[in-house]
Amino acid sequence: MNDSRLVIHHSTRQAYQDSFAKDVRTGLTVQPKTLPPKYFYDALGSQLFEAICLLPEYYPTRAEAEIFHRHAAEIVSQLPAPVGVVELGSGSSVKTRLLIEAILANQPELHYQPMDISASILQHSAEKLLGDYDRLRITGHVGDYTCGLDSIVRREGEHLLALFLGSNVGNYTPEESRALLKSIRSALRPGDGLLLGADLKKSPDVLIPAYSDPLGVTAVFNLNVLARINRELGGTFDLKNFQHRAVFNEDAGRIEMHLVSRVAQTVNIRALDLRVEFQTGETIHTENSYKYDLPQLATLAEATGFQPVNTWFDDERRFSCNFWLAT
Ligand code: AVI
Repeated sequence: MNDSRLVIHHSTRQAYQDSFAKDVRTGLTVQPKTLPPKYFYDALGSQLFEAICLLPEYYPTRAEAEIFHRHAAEIVSQLPAPVGVVELGSGSSVKTRLLIEAILANQPELHYQPMDISASILQHSAEKLLGDYDRLRITGHVGDYTCGLDSIVRREGEHLLALFLGSNVGNYTPEESRALLKSIRSALRPGDGLLLGADLKKSPDVLIPAYSDPLGVTAVFNLNVLARINRELGGTFDLKNFQHRAVFNEDAGRIEMHLVSRVAQTVNIRALDLRVEFQTGETIHTENSYKYDLPQLATLAEATGFQPVNTWFDDERRFSCNFWLAT
């Protein structure tokens, strides 16, 4: 598509490839072994995540969409028009459409700045959005949020609404999420807003099936990070020898995803000139998904330069959308 309303910036691909190699080496040579969850999202992993969002057991996407269907107009009216939108981890931008439509009902045009780690999903969703909304302009940023936050632009007289949706905040440790929210705050001005989608604490009877679905989609999503190491770094992971496991860590208030080695085995990673030994039952910790309560969210807002203003819930109060004002 050649549309003058679309610009996509790529953070340098080589730097990103180098950090994948470096992070894989670090993660697989420490005890316990670990891999950062951001590497799930290559082109295939991003599509697998979209499939997860369709699973009946994975409630967060539907719960958040329910909130937007019901409250989009009220949510966007928290800031005076004109508003520009920045989104961290935009993915398919499906739910964001509801907010875009609500904003376009209040102002003649909208500048939307999505950031995502997957170039393919960002390009595809931007083209679809532009096809559907002729009063939209998009500047996309492919890469880590930090690069995208540095290049945010605003028009004269515009307030920015930053979106950090889908419980993406849950994939960061408490220290990391404080640091990330502070950097979001630094990219904003007093009077701008942040809409934070945060999953709420609930029974493991609901949480475990959401992260260990009977169809096995989450298992494939998790295993894809090993397939990615094979594809991009010349790894020899035999995926049949690893099993997906999701556990609820009550003390930490988080779901953890692991890949468990079914046998004692050695894996080689050619690009790293690395041999990795696994014991039977040894795990690679691949993701945390923290679940919040309202006092924790209020503390997080205050610690990072925001004032919590309003919260909306789905009918079953499984999920929260929080509007915070930059102070
Ligand atoms: C993207 N992120 C918020 C999802 C979550 O719920 O933590 C990733 C995910 N992992 C397994 N299922 C979904």
